[in-house]
Amino acid sequence: MIYRKATFNDVEEIYNLVNLYAQEGVMLARSRNTLYETLRDMYVAEEDGEILGVGGLHIVWDELAEVRTLAVAKKALRRHIGANIVEYLIEEGKALGIRKVFTLTYQDKFFGSLGFKVVTKDDLPQKVWKDCIDCPKFPNCDEIAMEMYI
Ligand SMILES: CC(C)(COP(=O)(O)OP(=O)(O)OC[C@H]1O[C@@H](n2cnc3c(N)ncnc32)[C@H](O)[C@@H]1OP(=O)(O)O)[C@@H](O)C(=O)NCCC(=O)NCCS
Repeated sequence: MIYRKATFNDVEEIYNLVNLYAQEGVMLARSRNTLYETLRDMYVAEEDGEILGVGGLHIVWDELAEVRTLAVAKKALRRHIGANIVEYLIEEGKALGIRKVFTLTYQDKFFGSLGFKVVTKDDLPQKVWKDCIDCPKFPNCDEIAMEMYI
């Protein structure tokens, strides 16, 4: 398995992976436009030339970043690919001087196993909600807010 920063060549595979889960309602859909604009946020896991996982660390505010666009191909679940991607994202975050990472998720067991703690959404700065207005679930979000100091 190779873990590396995403490149333009990966965008179609990332798009398909993320939007498959988005159709199932477990994560936010991402347009190609957004994927291009945030390409530098993202790490991918590649095996035999195929993208099996993706995740992004998006800077939101002073020393604060969001883990998002995290998805592992169904055939590759529970091989610690998701955990490894988050680890790479956190290492990059530390190098940037980020102190707190958060996520909005239904995968509380996964993020809990990595050290994230559940918080109330009100604990996160208002700027976090900028992207939420584009979500079909807004304003009735039932995702769990989780954060970790790194
Ligand atoms: C969440 C997701 C990225 C996890 O990826 P993964 O590579 O399968 O997870 P890992 O193998 O790294 O799991 C690490 C640990 O998390 C926990 N975990 C992972 N998936 C879990 C699940 N479905 N139920 C309970 N615990 C889970 C386990 O403790 C696991 O360790 P273990 O297998 O040694 O017991 C993957 O399930 C996924 O893509 N889901 C759909 C998209 C999504 O919900 N993304 C999150 C948006 S924020």
